[in-house]
Amino acid sequence: MRSHVLSLAILLATTACAGVPGEPLVSTAPSAAMVAPILTSPEAVDTLTHAQPQVARVTHVALDLDLDFDARRVGGTAELTVLAAPGAEEIVLDTNGLEIAQVTDGQGRALSHTVGETAAEGGKGAPLTIRLDGAETLRIAYRAPADASALQWLSPEQTKGGVQPFLFSQGQAILNRSWIPTQDSPGIRQTWEARITAPEPLDVVMSGVRQGEPEDLGNGRRAFTFVMDKPVPPYLIAIAAGDIDFRAIGPRTGVWAEPATLDRAWREVNDTEEMVVAAEELYGEYRWGRYDMIVLPPAFPYGGMENPVMTFLTPTFIAGDRSNNGLVAHELAHSWSGNLVTNAVWGDSWLNEGVTTYFENRIVEAVYGKQRAEQEAALMFANIQETLAEVGEDAPGTALSTDGGYQLGSAIAYDKGAFFLRTVESVVGRERFDAWLRQWFDNHAFQPATSELFLADMMDNLVRGEAEADALMLREWIFEPGLPANVAKPDPAAFAAVDAAVSAYAAEGTIPAGYAQWSSAERQRFLDNIPKQRTAGQLAALNEALGLSGTGNNEELFLWLELALANRYEPAVPQAEEFLAEVGRAKFVRPLFQVLWDQDEWGRPIAQRIYDETRGSYHAVTVSYTHLRAHETDSYL
Ligand code: BES
Ligand code: ZN
Repeated sequence: MRSHVLSLAILLATTACAGVPGEPLVSTAPSAAMVAPILTSPEAVDTLTHAQPQVARVTHVALDLDLDFDARRVGGTAELTVLAAPGAEEIVLDTNGLEIAQVTDGQGRALSHTVGETAAEGGKGAPLTIRLDGAETLRIAYRAPADASALQWLSPEQTKGGVQPFLFSQGQAILNRSWIPTQDSPGIRQTWEARITAPEPLDVVMSGVRQGEPEDLGNGRRAFTFVMDKPVPPYLIAIAAGDIDFRAIGPRTGVWAEPATLDRAWREVNDTEEMVVAAEELYGEYRWGRYDMIVLPPAFPYGGMENPVMTFLTPTFIAGDRSNNGLVAHELAHSWSGNLVTNAVWGDSWLNEGVTTYFENRIVEAVYGKQRAEQEAALMFANIQETLAEVGEDAPGTALSTDGGYQLGSAIAYDKGAFFLRTVESVVGRERFDAWLRQWFDNHAFQPATSELFLADMMDNLVRGEAEADALMLREWIFEPGLPANVAKPDPAAFAAVDAAVSAYAAEGTIPAGYAQWSSAERQRFLDNIPKQRTAGQLAALNEALGLSGTGNNEELFLWLELALANRYEPAVPQAEEFLAEVGRAKFVRPLFQVLWDQDEWGRPIAQRIYDETRGSYHAVTVSYTHLRAHETDSYL
C-alpha cells in the first residue's frame, strides 16, 4: 500500500510539471521533498475514477470531434499521450456510455482493449482498459451517446433567438467521461487541444484558447481549434456551440452570448476587468491569459462554472443592477482556488469551493465595498446556521473534509469553508493571512491538494507558536462537524435595519416603506426571515406593496415563489410554472419542486403536472438533483 501511494505521488508530481514551459515531460525521479506534499494520506485516492495513475496516466488529450446537431451526438477521435511506469502493461480510462470503434497507437497499429462493467455507483461509468504494447500515444475512435450526461442539446425553442440549436457541456464533477475518454479525476492534470467541426452559422467556444479564425470546410461546416497548454483536471474541459456573439469588456476580458442577450449580459458583467485586477492584487498574477465568459441559455444547470478562460454563466443572474455579480467574482476566484490548486478528491471540495467563496467575498469587498461584502457574508452565515439547525451540529456531513461526494449549494463546503478562512484571517490579521494564501496558490500551482496538505501548509507557513495554533482550532474546523466556537461572526450591524423591519412586520404587519431602495442582499434577508406561514391575504398585500412577483432579480423572485407555494397561494402557480419551464438552474428548480411536493394533496399534483412538461428541457444534473432530493419515493419524478 505504502509504495502504491508513493508511486502515485511520483506520477502526479512528475506530470504536474508537464505543462509548465521548460519542464521535460518525463522527469527523472523527483526528490522526496517534491513528492511528499502532493499526496500525504491514502484517503486522497479518488474512488470516483477507474484510472490507476500509479501505473499509467494521461498527460495530454487531443480531440478531433464533429458536432452532429441532428443526431445530437459528438463523435471523432481522442489522441492521448501516456506516461507509463516502468513495466506497465495497460492503462485504464474512464468512460460512460461511449461507443468505442477502434483503438490504435500513433502508427495506426491496433491495440486490444476492453470496456468493463458499468459501476453501480451513479455516474462512475465503465473502465476502458487498453493494452499499451509500448505505445506512448493512443488514438481512440469513438462516439458519445445521445444522452451523454455532460452534454445538453437545446432545440431552437430553448434559445432566445429561437432559430438555431445550442449545445453546452458541464463536466464537474464526473460527467466529462460521457463525451471524452480519458482519466477523469481532479488529481490527474492534462494539457489538451481540440479541433471541433460545427454547422454554419454556429460558433464554438471552449475552455481553451481559440486559435485563429474558423476554417471553412466548404460543406456548410466550419472547424474551430483550441489549445489549453496548462495542465488542468479533465472536469475543466468544456464546450459550447450556438448562435453567439462576442463583445469585449477590457483588454483581456469579454463576454459571449446569444445576440438577443449580449447587450444585457455585457452591461451586467462590465466590472469584470476591474475584478481581475482586484483579484490579482489580492493573491497574485492571473495565469490563464484571457478571462472570457459565456452567458448561456437558461437551461444551464448551475449559476456558473469556472471553465478556464471561459466561465459559463446562467442568464438568470442578470438583474440589471449587477447585484448578483458575486457569481462572476466567484467563478473568477476559481482561477486560483480550483483551477490552479485543485482538490485531489471530491470529498475535499471545500478546498475549491470554500476557498473560492472566501476569495469571492474579498473581490466583492474590493470592487463593491465593505458593506456589500459584509451583507453577503451575513447571508452565508445565516445559511450555515440554517443547515446546522436542520441536520444537527454533530452530523458528520457538516465537517469540511468528508469521504462522500458533492453536495449542491452546500452551506458546508462553500459557506463554512469561507468562514473558516475568515476566522483564520481575523486571528492572524489580514496582512499575514493574505501573504499566506498567496504563497499557497504559488507553491501548489497546477497541483492537486488535500485537506491534510492544507493543514500542514498552514502549520508550516502561517501559524506562529502554540498559543496561536490553539486559538485557530484548525483541526476542528477541517475535520469536525458543526461550527467551532472561535468563528468570526458577521458584523451584526450589516442587517440591523432590515432585521428591525422583519420584527416590525412579524409583530404588526408593517410593510417596510424603504424596500425598493434596499440592496438585493437586504431584500433577500427580509424575504428569508419573515414568518413562513402567511395567509393568501397577507401574501397578496405583500406582493402588492413590494412588487415581489414583478422583480427583475431571480434570486428574489425565487424567494417569493418559494414562500407563496409553501402557503398554497394559487395566484403564484402560473408564474412558478412559467419559471420552471424556462429555467433549468438546479438551485432554483429543486427547491421549488420540493416545496410543492411538501404541500401534499395540494402541491403534488401540481408538481407532477409541471414536471411532466418541463423534465425534457432539463440538463441531466438538474434531473438527478430533482429526482434524488425532492423526496424519498420515486412515484413522480
Ligand atoms: N464549481 C461550481 C459549480 C459546481 C458545483 C458544478 C458542484 C458541479 C458540482 C461553481 O463554481 C459554483 O459554485 N457555482 C455556484 C455559484 C455561486 C455559489 C456564486 C452556483 O452555480 O450556484
Ligand atoms: Zn464554485
